[in-house]
Amino acid sequence: MKKILVIYYTQTGQAKLALDAVLKPFIGNSEYSIHYELIKPKTQLPYPWKYSEFFDVFPENVQGVPFELEPLTVNQNENFDLVIIGYQPWFLSICRPINSFLLSDEAKKLLNNKSVITIINCRNMWLGAQEKMKQRLLDLNAKLVGNITFVDKSSNLTSLVTVLAFELKGVKENYMGIFPRYGVSDKDLEAAPELGKLIETSLKQNNFEKLQQLIVMKDFVTVKSNLLLMEGRGRALFPLYANYVSKKGTASSAERRGRVRIFGIVLPTAILILSPIITIVSRLAPLLAGAKFKKEIAYYKQNSLRRTS
Ligand SMILES: Cc1cc2nc3c(=O)[nH]c(=O)nc-3n(C[C@H](O)[C@H](O)[C@H](O)COP(=O)(O)O)c2cc1C
Repeated sequence: MKKILVIYYTQTGQAKLALDAVLKPFIGNSEYSIHYELIKPKTQLPYPWKYSEFFDVFPENVQGVPFELEPLTVNQNENFDLVIIGYQPWFLSICRPINSFLLSDEAKKLLNNKSVITIINCRNMWLGAQEKMKQRLLDLNAKLVGNITFVDKSSNLTSLVTVLAFELKGVKENYMGIFPRYGVSDKDLEAAPELGKLIETSLKQNNFEKLQQLIVMKDFVTVKSNLLLMEGRGRALFPLYANYVSKKGTASSAERRGRVRIFGIVLPTAILILSPIITIVSRLAPLLAGAKFKKEIAYYKQNSLRRTS
């Protein structure tokens, strides 16, 4: 029997929907056993978030500062054939609960020398978080063999509104009577079991070499040129602003509230203003620097980490 460990975090159940859809072919199959490990922060995170709470998690999340977790239910010495990590990017970095797990001693044991598949669910910006994930997995001596993304299919501006309604008001559908439903799409959920079958074949043969290529062919790794450019700006600026906020005070402290509030206004405004401009630039960019652009998109669709020197 092959043993699969599924490590995940979810606030509203989106990650579990994605995981269940992908893993459908394994359910009821006695050749496999699956252990689901829901990562639980010691101090529960709010949902829906208050505006100030939502933006206050930004600095430590970007800086990758771990926090305490509830003990895991899995036996750390168990040897799994495959590990699947279901996670969300938060502010272009790995969400804090999963990052805390990846920095734990338990992760060192459970992931050492293991094949890992990541299943991301998010609004639409996951590239930076996954780069950090690649580094964490390298540090844990684990091998990233597959990455699947479930993104919201609306335009960047529409999903900016719907994600904020979802996170800050707990409204998922029909916000203000006009906005579409936020989150993972039914179409993706319906198609996802095909990915489970690909994973099963790889697992059976103990050969994951072709898996990522097949996931890409099924259109389950969404990299859009306008979002690539936009995320690039955010990834360069976020660490600077995170330091600027955390220098002023610790998490939730009154001292840094002003700087958090500014971020809470500037970020949505910047997305609003930059989004149309960047979309135009991204349409021109392939004409001006086509080869470089193609290379970037291909890079984010695969699983190795770029050397920076
Ligand atoms: C604090 C916070 C920051 C977020 N930042 C991003 C982000 O950088 N990129 C993105 O695409 N989605 C972002 N999101 C949206 C989440 O990825 C989205 O809410 C997720 O689909 C919810 O999944 P869950 O129900 O499994 O928790 C953020 C959400 C939260 C709560």
